[in-house]
Amino acid sequence: MQGITFYQDIISSHFKTLALDKEPLNLYNPIEYILSLGGKRLRPVLTLMATEVFDADYKKALDAATAVEVFHNFSLIHDDIMDDAPLRRGSETVHEKWNINTGILSGDAMLILAYQYFESYEPAIFSQLAKLFSKTALEVCEGQQYDVDFETRDDVTIAEYLKMIEYKTAVLVGAAMKMGAIVAQTSQENANAIYDFGLNLGLAFQLQDDYLDAFGDPETFGKQVGGDIIENKKTYLYLKAMEFANADEKEQLHHLFSIQPNDNTDKINSVKEIFNQTGASEATQKAIENYTFKALETLEKMNITTDKKAILKAFGEKLMNRKV
Ligand code: IPE
Ligand code: IPE
Ligand code: MG
Ligand code: MG
Ligand code: MG
Repeated sequence: MQGITFYQDIISSHFKTLALDKEPLNLYNPIEYILSLGGKRLRPVLTLMATEVFDADYKKALDAATAVEVFHNFSLIHDDIMDDAPLRRGSETVHEKWNINTGILSGDAMLILAYQYFESYEPAIFSQLAKLFSKTALEVCEGQQYDVDFETRDDVTIAEYLKMIEYKTAVLVGAAMKMGAIVAQTSQENANAIYDFGLNLGLAFQLQDDYLDAFGDPETFGKQVGGDIIENKKTYLYLKAMEFANADEKEQLHHLFSIQPNDNTDKINSVKEIFNQTGASEATQKAIENYTFKALETLEKMNITTDKKAILKAFGEKLMNRKV
């Protein structure tokens, strides 16, 4: 097994070989566009790493890794429509560069393309991959629906929030890793343990995503900073702020999350101030750490060598300290 950068390089070269310059151009150009913007590509890297953790050659997992990343990019195109987001990976979102209908159809095509990448596997492995993928993709839809439903609710609980982020984000990280386990045909115990590792890492990852959405550096973040505040997203930051706020802060935050000003600058600054004042920012940082540590604990259950555990641990710690 190699270090993280090795697998990142493999994925990056592999994505350059996907022949997607097809007609109709208005269907395929947006697909090439979003994929060419790259991103961190953490999910396909995790698929390759998981495969080698369980002693199979990463090359066997390239198609599964591609499927996961193409699905992820599909979900981003549709998510950006739903969240009315102007920026993705430092560039215009697909629906801004083209239009909403293009985003819908190119996204649909990517979901189907993702499934096609599994066709190269023998029937027994294909069946396990497709089954896991369908279950996961449906959960992602459920999570996305909760996320949207919560925008207009003001009684969302932390437990509901955690379920929502588990579905919209964490299950795909878990599945990306379990696919490596399936390709490597390791034991069910190992496959479940690596899924749990990915799931907890995914929860930490979404909490961090929420944190950076408010406090990321606009120069490097690549997305519109404050986008969740504009959309009245019930993030961990918001829910903890509501929990810790005094009556006055509560009232203010409640009001700020009910208005839709033309210029959001003041709304974003005031909300961020409340997130900091109430201790919600700190609580979010703590939760990110806790879920990362929970992920690292599940590594101990796995029947793999300590050097492999160290590589996965390094990945988890790197994610926890990310700024984009
Ligand atoms: C963004 O995912 C959507 C979430 C689930 C938080 P990433 O942060 O992995 O996005 P890219 O692929 O690196 O751009
Ligand atoms: C996105 O969550 C989850 C999925 C795309 C399924 P977010 O809406 O927080 O992701 P970003 O912040 O736009 O990347
Ligand atoms: Mg979004
Ligand atoms: Mg969203
Ligand atoms: Mg986000």
